[in-house]
Amino acid sequence: MEQLEQLKKALGALTDPSSGATLDEQKSLQHVSIDDDGRVTVMVTMKKLDDKGKQTLTRAIAKVVKIDFKYQGLKVDVEAMKDPNALKNKEKQPVYIGIASGKGGVGKSTVAANLALALSRLGQKVGLMDADIYGSSIPTLFDMEVVLPKADENEKIIPFMSRDIQIISTEFFLTDEKPLMWRGPMLGKMLGHFFDDVAWGPELDYMIIDLPPGTGDVAMDIQRLIPTAQMIIVTTPHPSAAHVAVKAGFMAKELKHQLIGVIENMSYYKHGEETLTLFGEGGGRQVADRLETDLLAQLALAQPNDGHHSLYDMHEQAGIDYLGIANKLLKLRP
Ligand SMILES: Nc1ncnc2c1ncn2[C@@H]1O[C@H](COP(=O)(O)OP(=O)(O)O)[C@@H](O)[C@H]1O
Ligand SMILES: [Mg+2]
Repeated sequence: MEQLEQLKKALGALTDPSSGATLDEQKSLQHVSIDDDGRVTVMVTMKKLDDKGKQTLTRAIAKVVKIDFKYQGLKVDVEAMKDPNALKNKEKQPVYIGIASGKGGVGKSTVAANLALALSRLGQKVGLMDADIYGSSIPTLFDMEVVLPKADENEKIIPFMSRDIQIISTEFFLTDEKPLMWRGPMLGKMLGHFFDDVAWGPELDYMIIDLPPGTGDVAMDIQRLIPTAQMIIVTTPHPSAAHVAVKAGFMAKELKHQLIGVIENMSYYKHGEETLTLFGEGGGRQVADRLETDLLAQLALAQPNDGHHSLYDMHEQAGIDYLGIANKLLKLRP
């Protein structure tokens, strides 16, 4: 940890050639991490981005990382600083909520879909962005046909509507077997399109983002595109799931995302009068404590009533629980 702090300090003292200020002064050192194999990832922004300046800065970063600190691997991402007024000038900004987890299969997409639905049931205008490139499933959860979306007269992509929710998914753009090519930088571009080139309704109250599992590149793209995103971490009660969920949570914190809290999914199973804990106990509480945030809910392992495979009716227990969480989210509105 100390090594990381020292590295951050050294990098923060570098100058942005386009402004003459240090990265620390202009708060443009957005992310520095060292993975288990000693590879360093650095994410910075420049006041004004041009090829020459970018090269100068990248070289300076490489010198610090590889020569001064002797790390072998380095990945540098340099982007232009977002004009803070560009965001403010739009009439209304939705509350951005990223749904993250350490690993797949814990119910992240199920939570994203049902939270979007619950917010909509509370009268909110909701967008749902499926950014899980590795296992996009939102179209399936909403029984949607997977076809390319149409564009409007301004060449903006028109999101699909299902249950009153505006939905866009990576899956709509991966009509044949090309998912691999979207990884890495392409994925960042795709996310950029989701933000800039989709005709989201102007009056959106909430944007729910189903993130890929883990702690990788997408988290950084989200940080760049929506620095104001707040995060919900989903875990199961099992200690191993909790362990990776904590990692995802720390990544979110590292990127200065505000944590809303933790949702423990598949916490228990109601069998007649009996309550069974099939997947262990305590994971959600553990993650919330480690991340110093709230445990928002513990959700049962349950099949939705109405025969739909994953969206709950608002009169069954899980549906009510989701309304409860959505109600807490209403307080996030400015
Ligand atoms: N609370 C739950 N009760 C029953 N099945 C669930 C629950 N949460 C998720 N599932 C099921 O578990 C599987 C994985 O959920 P999913 O939301 O796709 O996880 P992730 O997005 O984290 O990979 C899906 O088949 C989903 O229907
Ligand atoms: Mg998923």
